[in-house]
Amino acid sequence: MNAVLEQFEKIGIVPVVVLDDAKDAEPLAQALCKGGLPCAEVTFRTEAAEESIRIISEKYPEMLVGAGTVLTTEQVDRAVAAGAKFIVSPGFNPKVVQYCIDKNIPVTPGTQTPSEMEQALELGLDVVKFFPAEPAGGLKMIKAVAAPYTKLKFMPTGGINLNNVEEYLQYDRILACGGSWMVKGDLVAAGKFDEIEKMTKDAAELVKRVRG
Ligand code: 3PG
Repeated sequence: MNAVLEQFEKIGIVPVVVLDDAKDAEPLAQALCKGGLPCAEVTFRTEAAEESIRIISEKYPEMLVGAGTVLTTEQVDRAVAAGAKFIVSPGFNPKVVQYCIDKNIPVTPGTQTPSEMEQALELGLDVVKFFPAEPAGGLKMIKAVAAPYTKLKFMPTGGINLNNVEEYLQYDRILACGGSWMVKGDLVAAGKFDEIEKMTKDAAELVKRVRG
């Protein structure tokens, strides 16, 4: 498996971040590192995403920072130029996935159906995102679709929080879970980085307890 994906597995929970202002990138990265989840999927939903990835990758080179909500190959280029080490997308766009593969950039596209998972396998991926995890059937659905695809691992994201993440992490076909609960936009906007660090710590401790 790709080294970045191995790091996802080790960290266990990938914080999904929406940053409206790049000035929040550095304190947020510090809170995530101090809390024990040195990783961020910075979503390309805001103007500040690209600059935030640049700041995090420069100031926290030890951190695994990547881009989420990547919908086009042009966004792949911008994200990677800013320092993104991985690409995540909400859906399965074969053009974006193939582009990342050709450029040797780790990519985890969103899937929900067996057909999308088979397309991912066909392109050589061994990990897919399962999105939006809870509304799409949660762990029960993942276990059902995982059965025929014996080599595929999943990164469920969407509706996961401290109350339900444990059962996902206990299943050995889950590589890592994505979630925004410890980095909610209102906490970031209010500058509550101590609170973010504490919630991150709770999440990191849970990973350690479940996975050892
Ligand atoms: C997203 O794309 O915003 C992620 O799926 C995060 O989902 P969550 O806010 O439910 O954790």
